[in-house]
Amino acid sequence: MSTKELLIIILLMSGTVLPSSLIRAQGQTTLSEALKDCFLIGTAVNEQQIIDKDTLGAQLINRQFNAIVAENCMKSQSLHPEENRYDFGLSDRFVEFGEKNGQTIIGHTLIWHSQLPKWFCTDEEGNNISPDILKKRMKEHITTVVKRYKGRVKGWDVVNEAIEDDGSFRKSKFYEILGEEYIPLAFQYAHEADPEAELYYNDYSMALPGKRAGVVKLVKELKRRGLRIDAVGMQSHFSMNWPSVEEFEKSIIAFAEAGVKVMITELDMTVLPAPKHNIGAEVSASFEYQRSMNPYPKGLPEKIAMAWNKRMESFFALFLKHKEIISRVNLWGATDKDSWRNNWPIKGRTDYPLLFDRNYQPKAVVDFIIQKAQE
Ligand code: G3I
Repeated sequence: MSTKELLIIILLMSGTVLPSSLIRAQGQTTLSEALKDCFLIGTAVNEQQIIDKDTLGAQLINRQFNAIVAENCMKSQSLHPEENRYDFGLSDRFVEFGEKNGQTIIGHTLIWHSQLPKWFCTDEEGNNISPDILKKRMKEHITTVVKRYKGRVKGWDVVNEAIEDDGSFRKSKFYEILGEEYIPLAFQYAHEADPEAELYYNDYSMALPGKRAGVVKLVKELKRRGLRIDAVGMQSHFSMNWPSVEEFEKSIIAFAEAGVKVMITELDMTVLPAPKHNIGAEVSASFEYQRSMNPYPKGLPEKIAMAWNKRMESFFALFLKHKEIISRVNLWGATDKDSWRNNWPIKGRTDYPLLFDRNYQPKAVVDFIIQKAQE
C-alpha cells in the first residue's frame, strides 16, 4: 500500500472530509470536463454515497460525473413496497444529491419484472390480478413516481429488460397478464405524467442479433403508435471476451436507424471467470462460491489490468466515434468496490470492472478517454 493510500485510510477512519486533491490532483481535467461536448458521462449511485457515508465516493462522483442514476432506490420494491405505501426517503435524497451538484438525473426504473413487490401483479392468494387492475396499478405507480420528480428527473428507464435474447417478449408477470400491450401502456402513462421527460427502453445483451432485432421492432412499434421514446439504453455489462466491438457497434447503428438516441447505461467489464456462458445480466442467476472462481482476491495482475484497460479503451473509442448518436455513457458504479459484479452471479468475489479502483484512483483508461475526447 502506498503512503497516499495509507493516509486516505487514516483520514477516512478519523471521519475527516478529504480534499479532492487526494482523489485526483486539482486542476487535472476530469471525465465530465473532457466529455462535455461529446455525451453525458454518468454513474449509478448507491445508498452509501447518497447518504454521504461513503464521502470519498460521493466526492469522486461529483467531480468526475455529470449524470447520475439510482442503482437501487427508485425500483418499485424500494419505492412502493406495499400497495398503499410509498417510501420516497432515499430517492428524494438521491434527487437532492444530483441537484446540489448540478448533475443530470436519470430515473431507473418504472416497470421491471425484477425487484417487483409481490402485491403489484398478484392478489392475496398469489393469483395473477386481472388486466384492468394491473393497468390501474401501473398507471398509479408510474404517475405518482414520475409526477413527484417532474422537471427534476430528465428521463426515465420506463421499461427494463422486456425482451429475451432471441427477440421474443420475456414472459414476465406483466406479459402474462397484459401481453405485449403493457409496454406501450407504460410509455403512455409516463408521458402523460411528465410530457417533458425523456423516455427510454433499457436492456442487456444488446449486441446479440436476436435481441437487437427485437428491440428495433419494439422501438418502431412504439413510434408507429405515436408514443414518445427518446433513447434505447444498452446496459453494457461486458466481460473480457464478450461482446465484440463490431457486434456492439451494429446494435448502436441499428437503434439509431430506428429513430432514437443510444445510451450506454450500465457499463462495467468483469475480469472474473463465468460459471456459465451467456447469462447476460439476469439478476436471478446464482452459483455457489468456489475459490477457483475468485482468482484475484488480493489484486489484479498487471498483464490482466493492461488487457482490461485496452479493451475498455476500444469501447470508449467506439462511443466517441458515435458521439452524434450516443447521448450518455453511464458506468454501473463509481469504484470497483461498489460493483454488483463482486456479488453476481457468485457472492463474495473480488472484481475490477469499473473506471476507478478500490482506492478511488483512476485506471489508465481514464487518461485515454480524457485525451481522446479532446482530440
Ligand atoms: O437492501 C439490502 C440491505 O438491507 C442488505 O444489507 C444487503 C445485504 O446483502 O442487501 C441489500 O439489498 C441488495 C441491494 O442490491 C442493495 O445492495 C439486494 O440483495 C440485491 O439484490 C441488490 O442487487 C441489485 C440488483 O440490481 C437487483 O436490484 C444491484 O445492487 C444492482 O446493481 C442491480 O442493478 C441491475 C439494474 O437495476 C438493471 N440491470 C442489471 C443490473 C445488474 O443486475
